[in-house]
Amino acid sequence: MEGKVCLITGANSGIGKATAIGLAELNATIVMLCRDKDRGEIAQKEIIEVTGNKKVDLLLCDLSSQEAIRKFVSEFKNKYQNLHVLINNAGIMKKQGSLSPDGFEMNFAVNHLAPFLLTNLLLDILKESAPSRIINVSSAAHRMAKLDFDDLQSENKKLRLMRLYGISKLALMLFSYELSRKLEGTRVTVNTMHPGMVATNLGRDMSKSNQGFGKRFFKTPREGAETSIYLASSPEVEGITGKYYAKKTQKKSSKKSYNEEDAKKIWEISAEMTKL
Ligand SMILES: NC(=O)c1ccc[n+]([C@@H]2O[C@H](COP(=O)([O-])OP(=O)(O)OC[C@H]3O[C@@H](n4cnc5c(N)ncnc54)[C@H](OP(=O)(O)O)[C@@H]3O)[C@@H](O)[C@H]2O)c1
Repeated sequence: MEGKVCLITGANSGIGKATAIGLAELNATIVMLCRDKDRGEIAQKEIIEVTGNKKVDLLLCDLSSQEAIRKFVSEFKNKYQNLHVLINNAGIMKKQGSLSPDGFEMNFAVNHLAPFLLTNLLLDILKESAPSRIINVSSAAHRMAKLDFDDLQSENKKLRLMRLYGISKLALMLFSYELSRKLEGTRVTVNTMHPGMVATNLGRDMSKSNQGFGKRFFKTPREGAETSIYLASSPEVEGITGKYYAKKTQKKSSKKSYNEEDAKKIWEISAEMTKL
């Protein structure tokens, strides 16, 4: 991965940090997108120490804010001429009721709208750097979701945490497949993946009993990062696009995630929401 620029969102914690370590070990140039300066700098130092790779940069951005994403993209483009791997890894699992600065349901804003906007704004540099790869970190929780286009922000119903989170991940899957169709022939690939159940900070909004449940059977962040690292770096997946992976293997995602009509609708609505 020498000479390859890899941008990883949410690279200060959990699966994102482990992915950054894995790719830094392969000599890639790492750009960490993090929202908190202190947490970002601590992780940056650790990644450099653990891997001996000094090409680990940190850029700040709160992905819940569309203005911050636009600012980040111009900062990134001023600094870098290439982008070979974009890993949309950052994610949250927030109880219903929390809104982004732009007024969108928070899970939907961070887990779907942010990768939608960030990726679209970086498409030019990804195309110029081709062959390049986009990896969207989804979740098996997309299977629990049902999209209600009349109430996409879930304002008129009460939803449990996993369903709300699942909606954002199903939207991300539909977007990923639609993007892979739009990018045909460009040598920019887009794949999605489920990392498994991984012991990270993600479940901090869950009840204490649910947080503890099964944790000792969870994967470590490094194990959870294996599929992201594989999709970012392996020659085996060169040219493969529009697929869903778990345990470094192609899997079928939910039936709803392959609905092309819904994918087009999600694209249009997301473009409006992000003023793309
Ligand atoms: N853990 C699992 O079992 C599991 C299962 C399926 C899918 N996933 C997915 O895996 C991905 C990584 O999650 P994780 O499990 O590693 O959780 P994590 O340890 O909580 O890491 C999430 C990362 O996203 C960042 N982030 C959250 N909101 C952000 C924002 N507004 N702007 C910028 N960065 C933001 C966090 O930053 P802070 O540290 O500043 O909060 C953190 O770096 C997520 O997309 C998640 O949905 C995880």
